[in-house]
Amino acid sequence: MKVAVYPGSFDPLTNGHFDIIKRAAKIFDKLIVLVSVNSCKSPMFSLQERCAMIKEVTATCQNVQVDILDGLLADYVSRFDHAVIVKGLRALSDFEAEFQMALMNRDYDENVETMFLMTGVNYAFISSSIVKELDRYHGDISKYVPDVVQQEILKKRGSK
Ligand code: PNS
Repeated sequence: MKVAVYPGSFDPLTNGHFDIIKRAAKIFDKLIVLVSVNSCKSPMFSLQERCAMIKEVTATCQNVQVDILDGLLADYVSRFDHAVIVKGLRALSDFEAEFQMALMNRDYDENVETMFLMTGVNYAFISSSIVKELDRYHGDISKYVPDVVQQEILKKRGSK
């Protein structure tokens, strides 16, 4: 069984992330969306909140599971027999950090391969950060995130 792990902070999940999930799920037997801490970012949602949202959004995707990473990504992936890491690549600006992480993960464990899917052209400019920026100024985020995510963001906005 070919397993792929799609890690990210998903704070929150965007339509661009969901597009990568749907496309990767067609290629691999099982796709694990792995909600992870990015130590460089301060999140809007807890890991559990992000996990719950992604579970709801992917409920109809039969071969998609959602999990929370507690530790190093390479250690998580090594539990499986030749699982691969899947990442989405938007513009050239993503490349440097992704290249470094892919090389680091493979240096740490030579069996840990990373594969990149190019972003869907309609999603190339969407990021979790830009969605949060729009929300901060009460902009309309409905085109950029799944409905479930939009509702949760609006709840957070209302509770401030
Ligand atoms: O969506 P992001 O924030 O770009 O995802 C980055 C993430 C969470 C995948 C990366 O920070 C990560 O892999 N964190 C887990 C800890 C780890 O293994 N760090 C070493 C990566 S070389």
